[in-house]
Amino acid sequence: AEKKTVFSAIQPSGSITLGNFLGAWRGCAAMQDEYRCIYALADLHTITVRQEPAKFRKNTLEAYALLLAFGIDVEKSLFFIQSQVPAHAQLAWVLNCYTQFGELSRMTQFKDKSAKHADNINAGLFTYPSLMAADILLYQADLVPVGIDQKQHIELARNIAERFNALYSPTFTVPEGMFPKTGAKIMSLQDPAKKMSKSDDNANGCVYVLDTPDDIMRKFKRAVTDSEARVHYAEGKDGINNLMGIYAVLTGKSYEEIEREFEGKGYGDFKEAVGQTVVEELAPIQEKFRRLIDSKDYLEACYRENAQKATAIAQRTLNKVMKKVGF
Ligand code: ADP
Ligand code: NA
Repeated sequence: AEKKTVFSAIQPSGSITLGNFLGAWRGCAAMQDEYRCIYALADLHTITVRQEPAKFRKNTLEAYALLLAFGIDVEKSLFFIQSQVPAHAQLAWVLNCYTQFGELSRMTQFKDKSAKHADNINAGLFTYPSLMAADILLYQADLVPVGIDQKQHIELARNIAERFNALYSPTFTVPEGMFPKTGAKIMSLQDPAKKMSKSDDNANGCVYVLDTPDDIMRKFKRAVTDSEARVHYAEGKDGINNLMGIYAVLTGKSYEEIEREFEGKGYGDFKEAVGQTVVEELAPIQEKFRRLIDSKDYLEACYRENAQKATAIAQRTLNKVMKKVGF
């Protein structure tokens, strides 16, 4: 049978976090043999929040190198930069005209981000989900592996695809979200009610994939927990649940196995073990990143070639759409 197509993307909006890695990209790297994978840096999405140009450019190149260091393999998969494939912005415009104001108004990410950036509630922030739909639909993706925070946007992309298909004729594959069983939402270490995010103001709550081992250990040791001092998974123990989730994904252990491992031990030992596991997982990635980021010519050749290949695929879908609409 033909391989199913997978699409996923990440914004180069800041340093990539342990949440991005565990919620999405560790899985994306593992899917490359079984699926036809198409991955992107969603830099058009990033300017919905104001960026300093030099910093933005640097973040984009770093994110490209870091995803390669995660194991995204351009011999097997496509991995390109969204702004270098014009079809994304073009299809997004068309899809904007098939997306309702009411639908976009219900997006919780828009509500959150407009509360956070009250001085810049721009139209791009509002129509972010139709650009995201274009990203996915251009490649006729079957599956979209992402963290659970993207569930509502995936639903909307499905609705837009179904609506367009019904109005004209089958044009888009209707994509399905794919969420990891564990790690789909890694929470801040300082405020376990909040998602760990690149754009988090509290850097202590956020573990960055490129943090030094010392910083990683310090952040885990200071992680907010509760007063019970027993390592077990239960409602109301958000801090411990989050740490158990991180440990479970990285070790492959079940929650029960983790509970047994730390029976009779305090939170201090547990936090230390989680931190150590994260440090060990990230060490080879950091080493590979350091090599790649010094190979600017290789990186440039790589993203240029991938943008060309992506353009060829995306253009086919865009041409079909334009014709159906009546252009
Ligand atoms: P961020 O919200 O950190 O800026 P993006 O919006 O660029 O990240 O999302 C990149 C990918 O990382 C998406 O698949 C998203 O679902 C996933 N992701 C982001 N934050 C988390 C988290 N805290 N836990 C799990 N997955 C996450
Ligand atoms: Na996000």
